[in-house]
Amino acid sequence: MPYEGESAITRFYDGDYAHFRTPSGDVAFYVEEALRSGGPVLEFGCGTGRVLVPTAERGVEITGVDGSEAMLRRLREKLPGADVRLGDMRDFDAGRKFALVTIPFRPIAHVLDAEDHVRLFANMRRHLAPEGRLVFDFFHPKLAFLTAPRPEKLDFERIEGERRVRRYSSTFPHVSRQVNDITLRWEVEDARGGIEGAESRFPMRWFYRFELEHVLARAGLAVEALHGNFDRSAFGDDSPEMIFVSRGA
Ligand SMILES: C[S@@+](CC[C@H](N)C(=O)[O-])C[C@H]1O[C@@H](n2cnc3c(N)ncnc32)[C@H](O)[C@@H]1O
Repeated sequence: MPYEGESAITRFYDGDYAHFRTPSGDVAFYVEEALRSGGPVLEFGCGTGRVLVPTAERGVEITGVDGSEAMLRRLREKLPGADVRLGDMRDFDAGRKFALVTIPFRPIAHVLDAEDHVRLFANMRRHLAPEGRLVFDFFHPKLAFLTAPRPEKLDFERIEGERRVRRYSSTFPHVSRQVNDITLRWEVEDARGGIEGAESRFPMRWFYRFELEHVLARAGLAVEALHGNFDRSAFGDDSPEMIFVSRGA
């Protein structure tokens, strides 16, 4: 799987992203898309179920696939009986079609090669019912930020029960491959000041708007809308996100 230190990233995932990602409105957006579609929904790269669990809790039938057994174990602890499968999203076969296919919070960044992007999007396309939609988000790349090495810095500090969790990150770019090597490091301080550490490393591919449009076209998908944020505002220079809504071409 993409993560070195998979147990560390899994352990901190829900706490970190409840703080760092869910306030963007992404979970509420995907739950609304799922309700609008009427289901069933297939989520590629469902991880610990940050999106899948609240979607299922709203009564939508949802299936998930992820390549990390540790992430899926965490998901099943939250939603016993969830319909989730271990698999590689590039060639996973759910054996049925869906009204909505999603890939929330950038699992595509873990797929590094151009031919694999086409495989992945073609596989999502294969899972769409005739009127089905593929919806996914990616950050709007800011070149100056992405292409400069970033030495370790504190991302945030949060309280977890009796403990204080501090997360640090550093990145090193490989500009010709559009890849950043990311290192995440956590320090957990207990009530008596004892400190425990953990680390995870992984590469992340970045994408530009038109690269994604070309990949979608190669995979037989047509763009229906491009939003710049989870409030569905139009995509523009200052948009933080690229949120594609697409259908079979
Ligand atoms: C940033 S997490 C997103 C999880 C979830 N969608 C969310 O919004 O919180 C990316 C997920 O993609 C999964 N992943 C990465 N590459 C994968 C692959 N080739 N096949 C299946 N899952 C993959 C990782 O295991 C991880 O759980």
